[in-house]
Amino acid sequence: MLRTISNNLAFFRQFRQRFETTGAIAPSSRFLAKSMIRFLANRGPAPVRVLEIGPGTGPVTQRIIPLLANGDRFDIVELNESFVEILKSRFQQDAAWKTAAPFSEIHQLPIQEFQRDEKYDFVISGLPLNNFPADLVDSIADTYFQLLKPDGVLSYFEYMYVRPIRKVVTRGDEKIRITRIDDTMAAHCAEHRLARDNIVLNIPPAWVQHLAGSPDRAMA
Ligand SMILES: C[S@@+](CC[C@H](N)C(=O)[O-])C[C@H]1O[C@@H](n2cnc3c(N)ncnc32)[C@H](O)[C@@H]1O
Repeated sequence: MLRTISNNLAFFRQFRQRFETTGAIAPSSRFLAKSMIRFLANRGPAPVRVLEIGPGTGPVTQRIIPLLANGDRFDIVELNESFVEILKSRFQQDAAWKTAAPFSEIHQLPIQEFQRDEKYDFVISGLPLNNFPADLVDSIADTYFQLLKPDGVLSYFEYMYVRPIRKVVTRGDEKIRITRIDDTMAAHCAEHRLARDNIVLNIPPAWVQHLAGSPDRAMA
C-alpha cells in the first residue's frame, strides 16, 4: 500500500516534469497490466525471452515476473533514470523480484537505441506513442518488429479514442502528426492483430493491442 502511494507520487512527479515521455498521470491499473501479460501467461514450458519497454514504476513488470523462471531472459528498457532507480530497488528488496534478478537486466536508454542479436518471444510496451513525433513512431514500430520473433507476440496499450479525437480537434502540423501515427499503427494492427482488449478500468481507459511477429521484418 505504502509502495503504491509512493510509486503513484513518483509517477505523477515525472508526468509533470516529463510529460512527453511519461505520457500518463498514473501508473497502469491492475486490469490493464493483466491484459498486457495475457499472452505471456499462456507460455509453454520452453524458456522464453521477454522484453518490457517503458515499465515506469513497474505495474506490468510485477505481473511479468511471477510468470518467469530460471532459464528465461528478461530485459527491461526504460529511458527515465528516476524510474530506473525505483525498479532497481525493487529488484534488490522485493522477494519475487529478487528471484528474477539473475536473469533480468535493466537498460537505461531509449528503445530506439537498444540493439540485440537475439530476438524476443514477447515484447510488452508501455510507450506513449501518441506523444511522439511521427518519424519516431515509425522507427519505434520498426524496432518492435525487429526485436520480436516471427512467432512472438507484441502487446502494447494506447488510450482510447485519443487519436480519433485529436484528428478532429487539431489543425496544421499537429493534425498531420497524429494522422500519420494513426495510419502507421492502424496498418500494423490490420496486418498483425491477434486480439484487442478494452480496458475501461484504467486512468484513462485504454485499448491493449496484441500483435503477431512479422517474418519479413525479423533481424538475421
Ligand atoms: C505511459 S508510461 C507507462 C509506464 C508503465 N508501463 C505503466 O503501465 O504504468 C510510459 C513509460 O515509457 C517510458 N519511455 C518513454 N519513451 C521511452 C523510450 N523512447 N524508450 C524507453 N522508455 C521510454 C517513460 O519513461 C515511462 O516510464
